[in-house]
Amino acid sequence: MQKNKVYIETYGCQMNMADTELVQGILLKQGYELTENSNEAAVVLLNTCSIREKAEERIYGRLGNFKNVKQSNSNLVVGILGCMAERLRKDLIEEKKIVDLVVGPDEYRKLPELIDVAFNGGKGIGVQLSKTETYDDLIPYREDGLQAWISVMRGCDKFCTFCVVPFTRGRERSRSLNSIVEEIKHLSERGFREVTLLGQNVNSYSDNEYDFADLLAACAEVDPYLRIRFTTSHPKDLSDKLLYTIYGHQNICNYIHLPFQSGSNKILEAMNRTYTIEHYLELINKAKKIIPNVSFSTDIIAGFPTETKEDHQMTLDVLRKVRYDGAYMFKYSPREGTKAYKMNDDVSEEIKVKRLQEIIDLQHQISLEKNNEQIDTEEIILIEGYSRKSNDNLAGRTDGNKVVIIPFDEKIKTGSYVKVKINRATSGTLFGEFIDFYDVKSNLAVTV
Ligand code: SAH
Ligand code: SF4
Ligand code: F3S
Repeated sequence: MQKNKVYIETYGCQMNMADTELVQGILLKQGYELTENSNEAAVVLLNTCSIREKAEERIYGRLGNFKNVKQSNSNLVVGILGCMAERLRKDLIEEKKIVDLVVGPDEYRKLPELIDVAFNGGKGIGVQLSKTETYDDLIPYREDGLQAWISVMRGCDKFCTFCVVPFTRGRERSRSLNSIVEEIKHLSERGFREVTLLGQNVNSYSDNEYDFADLLAACAEVDPYLRIRFTTSHPKDLSDKLLYTIYGHQNICNYIHLPFQSGSNKILEAMNRTYTIEHYLELINKAKKIIPNVSFSTDIIAGFPTETKEDHQMTLDVLRKVRYDGAYMFKYSPREGTKAYKMNDDVSEEIKVKRLQEIIDLQHQISLEKNNEQIDTEEIILIEGYSRKSNDNLAGRTDGNKVVIIPFDEKIKTGSYVKVKINRATSGTLFGEFIDFYDVKSNLAVTV
């Protein structure tokens, strides 16, 4: 064990992944070293998620493992970062005696100081939420690669009744447009090819006179070879201006993650989602008109309090109408402190499981049908490297975020854009063959 080695495990959403990079940046600047081997670390940090009970259970399990390690190595500092730190605060230290450090999402600047407190036998606690902290001036640590995440705003003001995020991440606040554009310039110079702008509700982005559409346009103009993605959009705030901005820039991906949660207006109201399903579907149709070939993905919750069979059918109907490319589907999980927690969790576990399975099965079938429709068409993909399963294949991604596998060819380098023909499909993956290199700038196929 070396005193300056830190090991970090990350759970939860992409914002947590981005925060881990931020924390790594902060710690490296203080002289810490990162390790991927927890056995040689002096400090073990878990960047945690509270979104559903299962997420927390998993992390408790992991804490149990480190408890054993700590028994043989009492100098080990174990810390909890992220949403669970914010939600449970001192409880984690008092109940789970192995935790020395509890640091919420807005207190990462203090981490080196709090680690020192823990090294000296104290408990390092930083759980204040901030109305202004955006870490705008800090540089996250990123290994070289193709894809980077950038948090452009923090927090959430929507207060959906089921959700802990407004409590764990605090109020909405945005980073400055200039610093985000500068960060993207550096990434482009380092050879990155894709940036995902992150926020719990990116459409609420606001930096003085600039809104999210302005930010997207400014990011897209940095480098035509750099793809821009973004997540998550809230249906309430997805503006026409944003749709036209996506349409107007070839390197802003034609892909929108737009959670609808439930197809029933009664449930949407109980969730405080602030839109009707009619409004949502109109928005989808408008986006399909403005942006040809636009793809959608979504989030769905099955078994929210008072959900009837009819409400559930309405959710399935939305899947049939929109035909998403993908969906993240969850069983409702009551979270203490939220408004829905006070509602009677009256849909039985058995019915939740059954409804969720029906949603998954239908979406699976739609994904397969949609992928089969792609057979014999041509797609432009960004090559990301070897496929996960075999070095005989390369994997790339379409603008619509679908993975395409093609046979390995040494002339095709990671980070290049190539035109492929699709030959075969499963519900999750497309399989194709190389046709030509593609210069996204000229929009013309060129042979290199
Ligand atoms: N800010 C994003 C995502 C938030 S969390 C948004 O508003 O869409 C990601 C997803 O987790 C949510 O969209 C929702 O579908 C799901 N989720 C959040 N809280 C949940 C809960 N208590 N039980 C089940 N699913 C939940
Ligand atoms: Fe949670 Fe709703 Fe905010 Fe998304 S918009 S983070 S679901 S409160
Ligand atoms: Fe989880 Fe927090 Fe993200 S609760 S989903 S890590 S914002």
